[in-house]
Amino acid sequence: MTANEIRDSFVKFFESKGHLIVPSAPMVIKDDPTLMFTNAGMNQFKDIILGNRPATSKRCTDSQKCLRVSGKHNDLEEVGHDTYHHTMFEMLGNWSFGDYFKKEAIGWAWEYLVDVLKINKENLYATVFEGAPEEGLERDNEAASYWEQYLPADHIINGNKHDNFWEMGATGPCGPCSEIHIDLRPEEEKKKVPGRDLVNKDNPLVIEIWNLVFMQYNRKADQSLEPLPAKVIDTGMGFERLCAVMQGKRSNYDTDVFQPIIKVIGELSGCRYGEDPKKDVAMRVVADHLRTIAFSIADGQLPGNAKAGYVIRRILRRAVRYAYTFLGQKEAFMYKLLPVLVQEMGKSYPELEAQKVLISKVIKEEEDSFLRTLDTGIRMLDRVMAETKAAGKHVIDGVEAFTLFDTYGFPLDLTELICRENGMEVDEKAFDVEMQKQKERARNAAAVETGDWVVLAEGETEFKGWDYTEYECHILRYRKVTQKKQTFYQIVLDYTPFYAEMVGQVGYRFLLCSEFENIEILVTKTGKQPACAYRQDFASTSRCGFHGLCRHRFARRQ
Ligand code: ALA
Repeated sequence: MTANEIRDSFVKFFESKGHLIVPSAPMVIKDDPTLMFTNAGMNQFKDIILGNRPATSKRCTDSQKCLRVSGKHNDLEEVGHDTYHHTMFEMLGNWSFGDYFKKEAIGWAWEYLVDVLKINKENLYATVFEGAPEEGLERDNEAASYWEQYLPADHIINGNKHDNFWEMGATGPCGPCSEIHIDLRPEEEKKKVPGRDLVNKDNPLVIEIWNLVFMQYNRKADQSLEPLPAKVIDTGMGFERLCAVMQGKRSNYDTDVFQPIIKVIGELSGCRYGEDPKKDVAMRVVADHLRTIAFSIADGQLPGNAKAGYVIRRILRRAVRYAYTFLGQKEAFMYKLLPVLVQEMGKSYPELEAQKVLISKVIKEEEDSFLRTLDTGIRMLDRVMAETKAAGKHVIDGVEAFTLFDTYGFPLDLTELICRENGMEVDEKAFDVEMQKQKERARNAAAVETGDWVVLAEGETEFKGWDYTEYECHILRYRKVTQKKQTFYQIVLDYTPFYAEMVGQVGYRFLLCSEFENIEILVTKTGKQPACAYRQDFASTSRCGFHGLCRHRFARRQ
């Protein structure tokens, strides 16, 4: 089966079980302060899971573009070095919102893998949550009892809270989960060491393919668990891993998801995949990162200096560095790979085709500007090496190496490579100390704390902006968000004339007025239609007491 056929077969299977096929949500998130990027298929359903919005269908299925490069789920440093982690990946999922639960979720997962895809059941293992007494959570005996209908006892493995209690982030929906793992090793190796001993042990051939989450709780800001209004099934299968399984490959990068891109990288750079491990890592990094960057730009996130834009810029620079160092690419090159990506994925994700001119232009400009920075960095390194030599030493200062990393994006291995070529070394210990300090700084800056919603009244927002620039409104609910020691409040109104700025538009300024004070509001939500602007973020420098349902007047000012 080709990758496109596999994606199709998954959603069709769940459609046959009464699920509505929904499109992937954008990979870039604009209206949730707890997340910058979609990191799981369930993100777009978060409000349904929490009971804030009704579900269009109680059963849904899709293939969701996800990105795991920041926050709780972060795979960035692994990417390229192993064969099964990615920055962007597709997650195949099925959901039940207060409809079916563990029995059907487990039964259908089994039916799809074993009966439809004909995967050998001897190679499958399931994990179940072993419980966490400190949180008052018991072992998931119910899930175990359903697995026992399909798997022998020694293929069912207890797992701890880290692996078997899934949480979206520091707060939000969560619950015990059962992961399905597959053992892809040759028979002789399986005889020597049973697969169960290698589950969750970072063996590249014994890997998790599908996670079935039984959402039952909401993790609150004070870390306590409150039951969800209705039980939810949230499953996520790694599409690229499933393709490797189905195509008999040991690496995701050997499947038709990546090989067409890797082939073009090889043609453009004159390198052959599979000949030199270092070049292979670089080719995997470029192939992986190209997808992330292209899809992010298609979703409206350009590389930039802050927040999500900075994450995308760092990923692009990581790819340029690898191509520069190991594939000899001294000029912009990634943008030339875009046509093959559009050809392979454009049918399933039409936004790629639609935005390809912009994507190509942005990537090329970013590459050009970073290559200039690299050039400047190399000149700085030349100077540092010359000064070190002049002082009769051959080890360059780790602080200088760190400045190269931090300011010019030189990873340590690039600095070391250049130093080695000049008969010199880097003081790695001093570099590590600087790096540690930097991480501390970043952690403090990035920490976002989100309080629980304080509900003042039930209801949803009605948009009034088509007809009014002022409207009388009440606050339905609000919560506190703290980032970089600044406090913001996020509020939901019953009526609003506000809408968030759209891409390329100058933002409007808005005022919230009550009998006590006037507050300038920053509307940060970008939605496709103004009517989506139901959730307003505002930064308040003044004291803002939420006086229950006191009346506010909202005025829009150009
Ligand atoms: N939400 C679950 C995951 O991301 C399915 O693994």
